[in-house]
Amino acid sequence: MAAMANCAVVSHLAPKEKLASSSMEVAFLGLPLHNHGQRAVRVASKYISSCSNSNCGSQALKCQSMAHSIRANAVAAPVETMKSAEEKKTSTKSVCIITGASSGLGLATTKALVDSGEFHVVMACRDFLKAEKAAKSVGLPKGSYTVMHLDLASLESVRQFVKNFRSSGMPLDALVCNAAVYFPTAKEPTYSAEGFELSVATNHLGHFLLARLLLEDLEKSESKSKRLIIVGSITGNTNTLAGNVPPKANLGDCRGLSGGLNGVTSSPMIDGGAFDGAKAYKDSKVCNMLTMQEFHRRYHEKTGITFSSLYPGCIATTGLFRSHIPLFRALFPPFQKYITKGFVSEEESGKRLAQVVQDSSLSKSGVYWSWNNDSSSFENVLSEEASDEAKAKKVWELSEKLVGLA
Ligand SMILES: NC(=O)c1ccc[n+]([C@@H]2O[C@H](COP(=O)([O-])OP(=O)(O)OC[C@H]3O[C@@H](n4cnc5c(N)ncnc54)[C@H](OP(=O)(O)O)[C@@H]3O)[C@@H](O)[C@H]2O)c1
Repeated sequence: MAAMANCAVVSHLAPKEKLASSSMEVAFLGLPLHNHGQRAVRVASKYISSCSNSNCGSQALKCQSMAHSIRANAVAAPVETMKSAEEKKTSTKSVCIITGASSGLGLATTKALVDSGEFHVVMACRDFLKAEKAAKSVGLPKGSYTVMHLDLASLESVRQFVKNFRSSGMPLDALVCNAAVYFPTAKEPTYSAEGFELSVATNHLGHFLLARLLLEDLEKSESKSKRLIIVGSITGNTNTLAGNVPPKANLGDCRGLSGGLNGVTSSPMIDGGAFDGAKAYKDSKVCNMLTMQEFHRRYHEKTGITFSSLYPGCIATTGLFRSHIPLFRALFPPFQKYITKGFVSEEESGKRLAQVVQDSSLSKSGVYWSWNNDSSSFENVLSEEASDEAKAKKVWELSEKLVGLA
């Protein structure tokens, strides 16, 4: 079984003792195992599913064949006909885009934000039907969310999503880069539409392009507390026990990233080494945390946007582990629940991420948030590599080239 330590226990310690959040972290069997101020928001002159706008390949076909009920929820009436009570309610809400909102943390956060009554959530998902079913499964009221197609493993899809979002007429008050893939048992790398190793392409490069393009939309937000959040992970932090379970995250001198992660003229791994799916995920999470800090350094003062990252806790039940071996998937949740006590339910993790989106006490920019077992939040300390300014600049500049921004 490939080694992985995604999840860790941070038990009842005072916040100060937790800064390194390491001493109580327990790997699985040692295995790789705001509240925004009220403001008027003009919501959609029309809500658009990018699927209905085509350009989504097979996804578009799937969408076209779907029942009218789904389309009806995703494509709303033009602004002059928006007279229903539900639409009036929506028009006073802030708007938050969440990538990968069709399951796990993203879905739970969508639910928490919608339940708060403060947010309309744009569920940016690669599988339109799955997202609609997920929204219904957690009881999201019609009109409280919009599903838009986004495949982070295609830079063209990212660009199309941004176009579709803009043409919806919705403002943008918060962006949550949450989606991720994890291939711990893969023997061979797989690749994105542009030929980048798939986990770094999805988790980092797709989000990097999305966040860069949507920065100007966030900047225009009238919200007093506009936020850009990139979900991190303890596994990328080698100042923790979990982060020290092999294979450890290590970007090295970024020669693989510099070469395009294509497995032909360069290694598929950021550090130039041999492919390792678990390490690729952890490396991508280091990129996520470095990117959040680089955004903060470059844009916080200029834009007033709060940039944050977080470790939501060990959500052992999510789809992230779908490609792990069955024994791991069976044992991981009970082990985290009853042995390490590091288990966090999807609902609880969603409340945590929703806090980072809307809680006024979590409005400080440049912070990597974590939570104690009593669910109180604290500013955590990142590993040496995940807080390395020179590396953050390098990853930023190399990523700009790969996604076509430089
Ligand atoms: N689970 C944990 O213990 C844990 C711990 C620390 C951090 N995290 C972080 O939490 C975040 C959410 O993970 P999760 O645990 O909630 O896993 P999850 O349930 O598998 O959710 C991942 C989401 O990403 C979406 N996604 C994958 N590839 C995509 C693509 N190419 N384009 C658009 N969306 C794509 C998935 O869509 P489909 O539904 O279509 O597959 C799914 O909605 C990740 O950033 C992960 O690193 C999780």
